[in-house]
Order: sequence, then C-alpha cells, then structure tokens
Amino acid sequence: MGKAIIIAGVPGTGKSSLARELARVLGTEAIDLSRFAIDNGLILEYDASRKTYVIDEEAVASRIKRIVENRDGYVIIDTHYPEIIDPGIVDKVVVLRLNPLELEKRLLDRGWGREKVNENVMAEILGTVSVNALEAFGENKIYELDVSGKSIDVVLGEALAVVRGEAGFEPGLRINWLEQIPVEALERFEKYGGDSDGF
Ligand SMILES: Nc1ncnc2c1ncn2[C@@H]1O[C@H](COP(=O)(O)OP(=O)(O)OP(=O)(O)O)[C@@H](O)[C@H]1O
Ligand SMILES: [Mg+2]
Repeated sequence: MGKAIIIAGVPGTGKSSLARELARVLGTEAIDLSRFAIDNGLILEYDASRKTYVIDEEAVASRIKRIVENRDGYVIIDTHYPEIIDPGIVDKVVVLRLNPLELEKRLLDRGWGREKVNENVMAEILGTVSVNALEAFGENKIYELDVSGKSIDVVLGEALAVVRGEAGFEPGLRINWLEQIPVEALERFEKYGGDSDGF
C-alpha cells in the first residue's frame, strides 16, 4: 500500500510547481487535486460569484484513497484543502508558507481582483491551511516550509529533507507574518478582504 505526501498552501504558494518537481525526483506521480476533480467530472457546481468549481469532496477523497492504496511508495498530491483526504493514507502534509507581500504580487500578476487576492493573503497571514491541517492530521504529520524568496530548486531541496524526516520544519510559531509586514500592508489587506460581502 502506498502513502500520500500532500503539498498544501493557499493559492499561488507554488504547490503544483513543487509537486511536479518532487514527483519527478522521487520517480512517482503528482496529482493536482483541483485538476483531478475537474478532469474526472467530480464537481458539484460552478460557483459563478467566486469563479470556482465546487468539488465533490467525498467522491474525490474515495478515488484518491483507491489510487494511493493501489500504489507502492509515495503519491504526491497538491491541494489547498488537505483535510478532505483520509488521514489513514497520508504520510506527511507539507504546508508552503509565503510572505504575504510576495503572495500579493503573485496573485495580482495572475490578474485576480483585490477581493480574491486579499481573501487569500489574509488566509496566509492567519495560517489557515496549517491550522486546518493540524486539526485534521495531528501535529506529527504536519510540516511547514517558508518558501519566501527561494527558488524552486531550493524549495525542492527542503521538501526532500522533510521527506527524509529531517528536523526543523515543525509547524508552530516560527512563521509569524504579522511581525514581518508593515502595518500599512495589513490595513490594505483588511480593507477589502475577509468577509466578501464588504465589497
Ligand atoms: N519558488 C518559486 N519562486 C518563484 N516563483 C515561483 C516559485 N514556485 C512557484 N512559482 C510561480 O508562482 C506561480 C504559482 O505557482 P503554482 O501554480 O505552482 O502555485 P499553486 O500553489 O499550485 O497555485 P494554485 O493553488 O492556484 O494552483 C507560478 O507562476 C509559478 O511559476
Ligand atoms: Mg496549483
């Protein structure tokens, strides 16, 4: 029976880029969970206001479980909702953390609107993906990589260290963006972000 290594993080943190590289180096496959859901028709509806597909989480989870169980070794999965995956098949969850200012730039460069950018930047500031993953998988399976200012090669090297079980990537208070971003930036993110009916 195989095991999943999940690459998690808010949109734009570099999950798919890392998952592809990690799978290549480990000689295994990478599954982009959103792509997988769309390609396999595991969609409940299209949310026009948010311009996103609502995926059928149960169907995706059971398909992924079957795939992982039928493999030997690791399967790399990237998603911003790791908590939908059955903890029984998960070896490690690696949460990518990116400085909010760098994340803001990447999401604006994608052409995303202010509201959507701020929603995701605020999720990064609050560590929402890590908090949800900790709740779902427990602290022994969760690792955090600060990818700010690092090339994909450097990030890949650190991810391989996590896979080998090296210390230094435990979640916790190591990453605290509130200490690192100017108060004006925080005001900018709060102004149009958070609750989506405020825009
Ligand atoms: N380490 C890095 N340094 C600089 N740019 C990067 C790095 N990793 C990824 N990128 C770039 O950032 C953008 C987002 O990367 P990617 O698509 O891998 O993120 P993602 O987390 O999978 O996003 P989504 O959740 O929307 O699928 C891409 O343009 C990618 O080329
Ligand atoms: Mg992606």
